Amino acid sequence: MRLSLIVNGMEHELDVRPTARLIDVLRLDLGLTGVKEGCSEGECGACTVIVDDKAVNSCLVLAGQMRGKKVLTVEGLADDDGLDTLQRMFIEHGAVQCGFCTPGMLMSAKALLLADPHPSEEAIRLALAGNLCRCTGYATIVAAVRAASEQPAEAAPPPPATGRDGKAV
Ligand code: FES
Ligand code: FES
Repeated sequence: MRLSLIVNGMEHELDVRPTARLIDVLRLDLGLTGVKEGCSEGECGACTVIVDDKAVNSCLVLAGQMRGKKVLTVEGLADDDGLDTLQRMFIEHGAVQCGFCTPGMLMSAKALLLADPHPSEEAIRLALAGNLCRCTGYATIVAAVRAASEQPAEAAPPPPATGRDGKAV
C-alpha cells in the first residue's frame, strides 16, 4: 500500500506491506538504523521512537498507523546547530553506553522532557523503566537527563528582519 510518512521532519512516499511494522520501514526502507531491534515484543525499549511527542515502541506498531503523524528517530535529534541538549548531557555524564540501548534511552528521555521539562528523579526513572540494560546501569543516564532538564531553554531564533513594507529583507 502507499504510505506517506513524516520522519525527522521529512515527508516520504513509500510502498509498504499493510503488515509492515514501523521499525522495519524505518530501518529497511529509510535506512534509519539508529532504531534498534532487541526483543521485538515491547520489552526492551531499544526500538523507541517518538510519535507526536510520545515515546512508542516501533516494534509494536504498524507503519500504516503513522499516517498523518510525526515520527522522530534518534537520527533526528541533532540539527544543523549541533547535538540536542540531551545528547550533549549524555556525553558529558558518561551516559553513552552501548549502541544498542542508548538510542532508545535518548528517545524515551526526550519524550519525557517534551512532556515535562523539569521532571523529578522518580519521573526520570519511570520514563526509562521500559528501556532495559542488564550490563551497565542507570545512574549516569538519570544524571544526564536531570542535567538536560536543568539547562536553560534554548533561545528562540530571532524573527526574520523585515523592511518598512513588512516583507522579509
Ligand atoms: S525491540 Fe521493541 S521493545 Fe524491544
Ligand atoms: S544494553 Fe547497552 S550498555 Fe547494556
